Amino acid sequence: MDTTLLVNLSYIVAAILFIYGLKLLGHPSTARNGNKLSAIAMFIAVVVTLLDQSIVSYSWIVVGILIGAAVGAFAARTIEMTSMPEMVALFNGFGGIASLLVGWAALSEPTLSGVTLFTIFLSILIGGVTFTGSLVAWGKLSETLAGKPILFTGQRVVNSGLMVAIVICGFLFVTQPETTTWLYLAIALSIALGILAVIPIGGADMPVVISLLNSYSGLAACAAGFAINNNILIVAGALVGASGIVLTNIMCKAMNRSLANVLFSGFGAVKDDTMVIEGEVKPLSPGDAYYILEAASSVAVIPGYGMAVAQAQHAVKELQELLESNGTEVVYGIHPVAGRMPGHMNVLLAEADVPYDLLLEMDDINPRMETVDVAIVIGANDVVNPAAREMEGSPIYGMPVINVDYARTVFVLKRSMASGFAGIDNPLFFKDNTRMIFGDAKETINQLIREFSD
Ligand code: TAP
Repeated sequence: MDTTLLVNLSYIVAAILFIYGLKLLGHPSTARNGNKLSAIAMFIAVVVTLLDQSIVSYSWIVVGILIGAAVGAFAARTIEMTSMPEMVALFNGFGGIASLLVGWAALSEPTLSGVTLFTIFLSILIGGVTFTGSLVAWGKLSETLAGKPILFTGQRVVNSGLMVAIVICGFLFVTQPETTTWLYLAIALSIALGILAVIPIGGADMPVVISLLNSYSGLAACAAGFAINNNILIVAGALVGASGIVLTNIMCKAMNRSLANVLFSGFGAVKDDTMVIEGEVKPLSPGDAYYILEAASSVAVIPGYGMAVAQAQHAVKELQELLESNGTEVVYGIHPVAGRMPGHMNVLLAEADVPYDLLLEMDDINPRMETVDVAIVIGANDVVNPAAREMEGSPIYGMPVINVDYARTVFVLKRSMASGFAGIDNPLFFKDNTRMIFGDAKETINQLIREFSD
């Protein structure tokens, strides 16, 4: 068979597997298979590309594969679940720089059409922005950089000016490709834009930014695919670009904010001191909490980032089983941005074998909250903050939250009165029906389990 035909047929198979893999990623029970299928598709794509006759030399490719596989395997094995968003940020960044380099390398072709030059410029622009933007996002999430938005006067004017300068450089590069200065200038300005575009965004908005940068890394790959005329790179890049933007949209909706608000509002830069919280904090011991739980006929567990930190998911599952054997109905309420990455809580609870049908999304749990005897908030804070509903001045006002305060009794398991990721106070802790059970979440749940076992 003709090699080009074989290559393109294999690319079509890989593309179908990518699409089906993405579909399977849509549900926790099929996500693992979706991941495997996409990995197989990528394997096919890489092997077929390597078999293509236009490969000049394999030696550098083999060196690259060995180094990349070693780094990837080491990172995947050692990374903590709580650091997954940082890893995704780095992946996006490296995807961006790879597209920038591929686009740049495409310049070595002897003849280049205007369209190809334009796609080279796009891969460099989007790749450069994605690279440095992702590094800043990684820095903010890993707390290597300050999480607070970095704002300065005239920031938007500077960023807009930079954008205009990049467009001018792009135009000059496409019309005068022999003058490489315009290309180098476009690279430098794109790299600067990535940094300047992400520093004014607060740490709490980083998941949205990472998802958006994920989409950018796909678009950069897609542009690089056009630049080197590789069909599977175009398809895979477009899939990443589209799914990233869909996820970004879902996350913005979950916070009831527009993408423009996330990108340009400097959310979390100023702490709102006008927020006055009334009421008093009522601590409770696990021993006393046990008596209330023992008498409860319905319990809703609302997990958050603290459950991930405490690695309490297995203990939570054990408590769920004890409650169920005591005749209590137990469900879980999952907020779309609970934790530090999309689906964070689903992944942890799946790891502890919690049945999927017990996991209710925010829109399903909220209408039944008033009938819940005890809502147990495990290391969640922002996603259950009623200020989002009640306090117009609050930075999170309007964000949909899980209305745990509507339950008859609320137990909040956390170590202190510290605020959550958004850095704002939580009036839930002061409500009449709230009891604070201070301590590490896993330790507290283990104490509850001991009470039940006794
Ligand atoms: P947060 O609001 O961050 O609150 C987590 C709480 O867990 C903290 O208040 C902390 O209080 C407590 N905690 C930490 N370690 C604990 C432990 N060992 N035992 C018990 N409690 C512990 O979490 P959330 O409610 O899940 O909200 C998520 C926030 O992160 C949102 O603002 C969201 O926008 C943002 N975010 C989300 C994502 C995604 S996509 N999910 C990604 C990045 C950021 P103590 O220190 O007092 O214990």
